[in-house]
Amino acid sequence: MKITVIGTGFVGVVSAAVYASFGHTVVGLDIDEKKVASLIKGKVPFYEPGLEELLLEQQATGNLSFTTSYATAVANADIVIIAVGTPSTPEGKANLSYLYAATKSLSKYLKEGAIVVVKSTVPPGTLSGVDEILAKTATVGYELASVPEFLKEGTAVYDTLNPDRVVIGATKKHVFEILSELHRPLNTTVIKVSPESAQMAKYAANAYLATRITFINQIADLCEHNGSDVQEVITAIGPDKRVGGHYWYPGFGYGGSCFPKDVKELAYYSRTVGEGHNLFNKINELNSERIDRLLLNYAEKIGGWKGKHVAVLGLSFKPNTDDMREAPSTKVIPWLAENKATIVGFDPKAGDAAKTVVADSGLKVVTSIKEAVKDADVIIALIEWDEIVAFDYGATKLDKKQFFIDARNQFNPSIITKWGYEYLGVGRE
Ligand code: UGA
Repeated sequence: MKITVIGTGFVGVVSAAVYASFGHTVVGLDIDEKKVASLIKGKVPFYEPGLEELLLEQQATGNLSFTTSYATAVANADIVIIAVGTPSTPEGKANLSYLYAATKSLSKYLKEGAIVVVKSTVPPGTLSGVDEILAKTATVGYELASVPEFLKEGTAVYDTLNPDRVVIGATKKHVFEILSELHRPLNTTVIKVSPESAQMAKYAANAYLATRITFINQIADLCEHNGSDVQEVITAIGPDKRVGGHYWYPGFGYGGSCFPKDVKELAYYSRTVGEGHNLFNKINELNSERIDRLLLNYAEKIGGWKGKHVAVLGLSFKPNTDDMREAPSTKVIPWLAENKATIVGFDPKAGDAAKTVVADSGLKVVTSIKEAVKDADVIIALIEWDEIVAFDYGATKLDKKQFFIDARNQFNPSIITKWGYEYLGVGRE
């Protein structure tokens, strides 16, 4: 098949490369000339393990190319996949302007019978907006579908090649058939539903996971009051198959480009339909205030942040990415700066990005953990990069009182204590 993927962010580039690897002819399109120039040279403009290798491989086969031209990309495409961002507006609503702009731009080049697939995360009902725009300009017949994406950053290539399911939202039999055929090499369950259900399922999946994280964070907060250890609690509840032992790491709250925005959209939508007192508004509120709460709580335990040398380890929003969207560091660092701490930061990949994102906070970014911790009164292991978890903090212990904040409960408290640090986790002593 001839496929065009519009938008070359995580979802777009990974999808384009994976569909190319199935033997289809894929064109990736973006209006950002710099991004496209970089992709044409085989360089992915962000860090995602395994993606550059796949990209180069598929470019070499001739199956994958990139362009900024709608005319070139859309005119021959059997399937046009829209994978542009839908960031939050200040009121929490999903901003659909990129989606609609892309729809407008592609509309005049569509070939007869092409399927326009919305992969971006969009509120249920959005396809009618897309249809309206297409109908104004398109001179041919076309079909519409919604195929949400469930990949995670940091494991995006693996997730796309090994999905738990593919969800196809459409209304016509032949559209289901063509899109099922497109995903056949994945050898996974294909779930066929209406476009609205597919879109709602995407929000439901992300909101459920965000709720699960918020729930365990709340349990962790209670553990602090009674000497129980949230990690032991997780071990004790996980074997119940209805609960499960995975995706349960307490910490500084969820971040990234998806959970915060999708919960906000669901909360906003709930308010607009008169359901504003539901869970999603509360989850959003609890997650938004979490970092302040924790830092205030630690302030009591460490004798205040003022004048402390703090090493913040892990600046991206999660391991194996340089993405800093809604990263805990973007709240922690300005908060510490405001509270008169001196901050040194380290990240295996996001150091340069951090310099711009938290530019005003006086953050000094260094290139090794050793350098980051060399004067530290407090070490905050904020993100669980392998390198940060595996580091020998015993070898760098200073001859002074030092606190070790294990923000993702990744360390063995007794080892950290044995090395001479005062250990502070989340929901554990
Ligand atoms: C998330 C979903 O997991 C994907 O299924 C979805 O496709 C994607 O959003 C999206 O909508 O595009 P992602 O944001 O890449 O993927 O990352 P996750 O690994 O799910 O982590 C999200 C946030 O939750 C991170 O801040 C992470 O630190 C936090 N988290 C995750 C926890 O606090 N505890 C956990 O147990 C797991």
